[in-house]
Amino acid sequence: MAGLFDKQAEIYADARPTYPREWYQKLAALTPRQALAWDVGTGNGQAALGVAEHYQQVIATDVSESQLNYAIPHPRVQYMHTPPSISDDELLATVGGENSVDLITVAQAIHWFELPKFYSLVNRVLRKPEGVIAVWGYQAIQVSPTFDPILKKFFDATLPYWNPNARYVFDQYKTLPFPFESVGLGSEGNPVALDIPTEVSFEGILGILRSWSAVAMAKEQGVELLSEGVVREFERAWGDTKLVRNAVYKAFMLAGKVKK
Ligand SMILES: C[S@@+](CC[C@H](N)C(=O)[O-])C[C@H]1O[C@@H](n2cnc3c(N)ncnc32)[C@H](O)[C@@H]1O
Repeated sequence: MAGLFDKQAEIYADARPTYPREWYQKLAALTPRQALAWDVGTGNGQAALGVAEHYQQVIATDVSESQLNYAIPHPRVQYMHTPPSISDDELLATVGGENSVDLITVAQAIHWFELPKFYSLVNRVLRKPEGVIAVWGYQAIQVSPTFDPILKKFFDATLPYWNPNARYVFDQYKTLPFPFESVGLGSEGNPVALDIPTEVSFEGILGILRSWSAVAMAKEQGVELLSEGVVREFERAWGDTKLVRNAVYKAFMLAGKVKK
């Protein structure tokens, strides 16, 4: 699975939305201690940087070395490559040991994880009883009444090429197993809906679409989903392609503590 992200690391680093600073404030307010955080599936580290505004040390891990090559340095963030072959005990030691982590964040990545294995590690590594895990994702970007239907049509064309795990994103994490005690910010089956306001250029939106793993997967199978014709259709729906438009990512979050 990590290979999917290796190929697209550069486009990903350009195209991802920035998560609002209030999210990190809200999460930090949930943990009485702010010594150690773990950002899992960190990619270029954008969530790790947000968390580092509130926590003394952030361990930021990813299975993809090439994603980490685009990670933004920060004095309180320690990036670490954790290959799929790493044992749970090694990973536990890398992160800080049993009962050590105040906050775990997983931004737009948990749907790729082997959940029972990851959750059993989370239960070991989180500080009990107050440590919190927060996972979030986003799917749709809403741009304008003219553009959004074209985007929906394009999305529908990509459906056969997504990894089955993407279904959790398509249903906004409503079916994502999340066996933790609610802390008032979403709960299993009932994620909290959040908006990520952003501004996006036409090139930016094309970058986002190119970064979709399904687009890369289709290309590998000889299908160019973002063909010239499709790009022209997007152009027409956008209007002046020099125009930077206000847009909103529809996001969803679940947070919780280890069950007693
Ligand atoms: C869509 S990117 C999200 C990156 C970043 N968290 C963000 O919000 O922009 C998903 C990341 O999860 C990583 N990933 C996938 N499976 C993983 C696993 N089992 N353990 C750790 N990282 C994983 C990928 O390499 C990739 O960097």
